[in-house]
Amino acid sequence: MKGINNLINLYSALMKRLLMIPGPAAYSERVKKAMSLDVIGHRTKEFEEVMGEINANMAKVFRTSGDVFITTSSSTGAIEMAVSNFISPNDSIVAASNGVFGERLVEICNTYSPNVHNIKESYGKPLRPDAFSIVNKGTKAVCVVHNETSMGVENPLAKISKIVKERNPDCLLIVDCVSSLGGVEFDMEKWNIDIAASGSQKAIAAPPGIGMMASREGLVAKAKPRNYYFDVKKYDEYRKKSQTPFTPAVPLFFGMREALREVMEEGLDKRIQRHIRCAKYMRDGARKLGLELFVADECASKTVTSISHDKPTWLKEEMYKNGVVIEGAKGETNIVRVGHLGNVTEREIDVVLDTMGKIVK
Ligand SMILES: Cc1ncc(COP(=O)(O)O)c(C=O)c1O
Repeated sequence: MKGINNLINLYSALMKRLLMIPGPAAYSERVKKAMSLDVIGHRTKEFEEVMGEINANMAKVFRTSGDVFITTSSSTGAIEMAVSNFISPNDSIVAASNGVFGERLVEICNTYSPNVHNIKESYGKPLRPDAFSIVNKGTKAVCVVHNETSMGVENPLAKISKIVKERNPDCLLIVDCVSSLGGVEFDMEKWNIDIAASGSQKAIAAPPGIGMMASREGLVAKAKPRNYYFDVKKYDEYRKKSQTPFTPAVPLFFGMREALREVMEEGLDKRIQRHIRCAKYMRDGARKLGLELFVADECASKTVTSISHDKPTWLKEEMYKNGVVIEGAKGETNIVRVGHLGNVTEREIDVVLDTMGKIVK
């Protein structure tokens, strides 16, 4: 009997599970294959081609005519690049939070200026644009998370931007678009966003380990770097020759190039529509199972759905035993979170709902 159980455990350990967490998102066979290419030198023409293609496509994904900087780091590195280069000691900063990643953004701001005002909203609720009326001519920067992954809330960024820029056109708007970029409508130009930071492993469905920061044209000249590795001026110097200042994670860059090709082949607008469709499909399906959604429809994230449950750890573990990996709560909430970003379609969501239905029936 013990032998059989060991065998079952071994089998389930080897079993390919369906990854439905809010990142890293599962990436395609094409991306996987691209990463198995032989390594190349990062000061070569071959690498410059890879990097040049990544830079060009990434600017399209950010919808910017400005500059894009690619780091070998997780998304937090790109956020740190955004904050550390454009915030000087004692600058007056407004940083907003309605979840764990907003709180982290506030912490990063606190690292670079003691003068940070935190606009705080409850977990599960969106940031209120009118709360940004406190921005004044002395505010140097406003920092916000677009899609608060920890709660499954999308913040009304366009409205926030409008208020911020009305109050002070020179105030920098710095946005964490980690779990929205490439899957949710995000438009640096139209929304007047000065600096945006994201990561590879979410809606772009590239391997984890690459950070991206985009900045409005001409802004880098005004940067005042405050750390060594994320000095944007160094990145800018090398960006001009399609290189990075330090040794990049070359196989990940191969993977990123391929993932961006997939985004372009699908078309960014179509991809955004698919994410909208899948989010609705997930929410409707959860309701049909009698489950309670943590966030109201109007501000629900299109890349992650949070479901209230009184035993979230149990539900997450049961799902895992049945081959579907979902995420638990982040922060003091009783929720599980299902990611539907990157390459996810209704087909994968059907598997989540089927499995969850059998568990909670
Ligand atoms: C909104 C948001 N910001 C920041 C991060 C941190 O990203 P990373 O772990 O890639 O540094 C995440 C990760 O899930 C996120 O969802």
